[in-house]
Formats: sequence, structure tokens, C-alpha cells
Amino acid sequence: MCCPAPPNRVHCRQERGGQRLRNTWAEQSMEVGSKEYSDAIEEAYNEDALKCLDIVERDDFYGIVAADGMRFFGEKLGLTPRSHVLDLCSGIGGPARYLAKTYGCKVTGVDLSAFNHRTALQRTKDAALDHLVHFVHSDALTISFADETFTHVFGGEAWCYFPDKLPLYQSAFRLLKPGGTIAFLESACGATVRLNAEEHLGAVHYESIARYAAMLESAGFVSVTHNDTTALACKDISDAMYRLITRRDRVVAAAGAETYYALLEIWAEFLSHFSQGTLTHCGFIARKPVRSVNGSR
Ligand SMILES: C[S@@+](CC[C@H](N)C(=O)[O-])C[C@H]1O[C@@H](n2cnc3c(N)ncnc32)[C@H](O)[C@@H]1O
Repeated sequence: MCCPAPPNRVHCRQERGGQRLRNTWAEQSMEVGSKEYSDAIEEAYNEDALKCLDIVERDDFYGIVAADGMRFFGEKLGLTPRSHVLDLCSGIGGPARYLAKTYGCKVTGVDLSAFNHRTALQRTKDAALDHLVHFVHSDALTISFADETFTHVFGGEAWCYFPDKLPLYQSAFRLLKPGGTIAFLESACGATVRLNAEEHLGAVHYESIARYAAMLESAGFVSVTHNDTTALACKDISDAMYRLITRRDRVVAAAGAETYYALLEIWAEFLSHFSQGTLTHCGFIARKPVRSVNGSR
């Protein structure tokens, strides 16, 4: 993920020597789903961050790989106009609109941030895609769709906020039709990685490739595959950093120096981890079996 985004920690502003320092996340843990957590998300996703991303032309993607990654990954999902995708943690709807526009599928996005939800509705209307793309303002873990509603469940660089991914995968399994697909883009690590950028991002929890796969299987998924999208992520981040740096004056005038430096630091840190191999970027795809083990559905 790439923008000053949701925390698992308390967000506080520090004042020192009359100068406001950038936002920091205190060391206190925060339960996903708690009021504190959603308040912190409301604070993290804001106009300034979005202005900055708009100036650097992120095409409404908050995730690292943005449009290039979605093009590559989207091709692998087998989407058609008969598909109905659930995009869990859909941000301002960039990935949802991309999939609907490209494949003619229906997409339902779910996001906890009220700002992101409002922006997603407006931008979808402006793009005349509101007949295909809908949004629900909710926590991803407490949505109440009927079982077997969707053909695909997708997550774009957001599920790292869940310290335990298994309940999310289990919920996706329940919501998918038999034979349906779960797919997500995310970073992966060999050994635990703690980012300095968590000061802006909040706590993120990356797993190893093997652990993502094991958790998907434990939730009941089969045919688990992953694609290495690190090169795409590096290209997307480098391009974005180039635009950020060359448009610095516009970004600072519109969104403030704090947002500019936060974004620069986040992208630089991801890029160095990808170059050093301490993080890789991956796209996972797995299927819900057509029939359960006992032969019923
Ligand atoms: C880095 S952004 C990615 C957004 C989108 N997938 C994209 O690629 O543009 C992470 C998103 O996760 C959302 N989010 C975080 N925790 C959530 C939760 N518990 N339920 C629903 N959305 C959540 C945030 O509001 C934010 O929009």
C-alpha cells in the first residue's frame, strides 16, 4: 500500500517548539473493529493525502502496484460480465472501477473509511459506472451479505492491516459461490519486517508466501497459486516517486510538506525492501472447491 493509511495504533499529533511535527502512531495497540481503529482510519484517509495522490496520477489506486499491477493481475482472474466481485477494503474505488470498466463485471466495494466511501461513490458516479459498481460503508469483517453471493473476492494491498488473516479468508470462503475465486495483492516477507513508515501507515502485518498459502488452505481454498509482482511494484513506485519529486511544489502547495515527505518516505522504504529482497510483492489466487469434501455443496 502506498498512502498515509489506517493504523492499528493510536494516532496523535505532537507539538514541539511551536512547530507541528508530522503525525505519529503511538505504541498502543488497537483492535481491528474497535471505535478507536475506525476513528484513526477516518483521520488517516483525508483530502490532503488524496490531493497528493491525484497530482501524482495514481489513477485512484492506493496500492503500490496501481494500474500496471491490476492490469497484470486482472487478466488472471477470469472475469466476465457475469462475474460479481467483492472488493474488501476498496479505498476510493480505483480497483473496483478498473475491473468493472475492463471486464464489464459487477463490483461491490466495502471500506471502513467514510471519506473513502463518499469519494468512491462520487468518482464512480462521475465515471458513469454506478450501474456496475456499488459501495458499502462497513468493516470488512462484519459485512452481512448472504452466503455464496460472489464469484470473486478481491483485496488490493489492504489485508495487511489484519493481524490475523484467517477470519478474513474464512469470511471470503463463505461469501463465494462454489468454484469462486479469492485473489489479493500484498507484500510478503521472509522474516518479520517492521517499517519505519508504520509511523504514517499504522501497523502492518506481512506473512511469508508459505504462510499466506497455508492460511488459504486452512480456510478451505484449493489450487492456491501466487505470482511474483515485485518488478511491477518497483516500477510503479519508481514512476510515482519520480512524479512526486518533479511535482513537489504543486504537491506541497496543495497538500502540505508533511504529506509530501510522508509519501516519499513510505515509497522509498518499500522500494529499498523490494530491492534488498526483505519484502517481495505477490498476487495470490485460490479457488473455493465446487463441492465440499463430503460431496454436498
Ligand atoms: C492501502 S488502502 C487500499 C485501498 C484499495 N484496495 C486500493 O488499492 O486502492 C487500504 C484500505 O483499507 C481500508 N480498511 C482498513 N481496515 C479496514 C477494515 N477493517 N474494514 C474495511 N476497510 C478497511 C482503508 O479504509 C483503506 O481504504
